[in-house]
Amino acid sequence: MKHLLKMLDLSREEIMEILNLADQLKYEQKHGIPHNHLQGKTLGMIFQKASTRTRVSFETGMYQLGGNALFLSASEMQIGRGEPVQDTARVLSRYIDGIMIRTFEQSEVEALAEFGTIPVINGLTDFCHPCQILADLMTVREHKNRLEGLKMCYIGDGNNMANSLAVGCLKVGMDVSLACPEGYYPDDQVLEFCKQYPNFKLVNDPIEAAKDADVLFTDVWASMGQEGEAEQRKIAFKGYQINDEVMAVAKPDAMVQHCLPAHREEEITAKVFEEHATEIFDEAENRLHAQKAVMVMLMADKN
Ligand code: CP
Ligand code: NVA
Repeated sequence: MKHLLKMLDLSREEIMEILNLADQLKYEQKHGIPHNHLQGKTLGMIFQKASTRTRVSFETGMYQLGGNALFLSASEMQIGRGEPVQDTARVLSRYIDGIMIRTFEQSEVEALAEFGTIPVINGLTDFCHPCQILADLMTVREHKNRLEGLKMCYIGDGNNMANSLAVGCLKVGMDVSLACPEGYYPDDQVLEFCKQYPNFKLVNDPIEAAKDADVLFTDVWASMGQEGEAEQRKIAFKGYQINDEVMAVAKPDAMVQHCLPAHREEEITAKVFEEHATEIFDEAENRLHAQKAVMVMLMADKN
């Protein structure tokens, strides 16, 4: 593994290796065991969109690993004034040891990886959010003690979260049911991948998708960059919500995950959110541990 660009690139073995290392690093951090695997290394974090969790967990994670993180707001970099990503990649490769980027186009992330000589980590694009899905799988395994054979249900927009969750969950042997309204399905490349799996289902009805689910996911109706479509999306996504009716058809011990930020009474009711807050904030915490594992795997010196 040279980069983390999208879940489609990872094998099941690589995913499990990341999750196992993440569990170990979490244990070490909780028990005050030093784990300075990235002493003297610097991560550059390019942000073209807002962030709370990604920024703070990467920066803190790098510090806990003995390294340093640079927050690089795209609007204050030359890339924001049109300097080509190919040149940015080659310049940053001369200074630092890894790049985390949050942007719009997946192709920009892929170009950074192609033209640079250091590992690139995708911190969210319109296409996918692999760091989030690794934390999600870590959290599900923590709560359920396994992944294989569990049923994952996602209700809502066929967006970056849906794209990466479907791929990640199928790769680790979970059953996947997505409920998305027509016109808001996941990416075609993702659906092509998913179609190989008999345990994949895409439907329009949230109740049908949630039946016997072990874990339910949702995400905002309008993602970053889609603010102008918010009103139209409120109409299109009406009913695509995790609520008591949906929970009633899932397994009695089903867990709920949300990448956050959450819009209460849109994609999830405040009641269900609060009833599952422990799982949801464990998920947010696990961003830190999962990303530390990714950074160690990509950036630590190999002996
Ligand atoms: N879930 C997530 O990526 O959160 P931020 O947008 O706050 O980074
Ligand atoms: N789909 C959301 C995820 C935020 C973490 C967005 O792209 O805004």
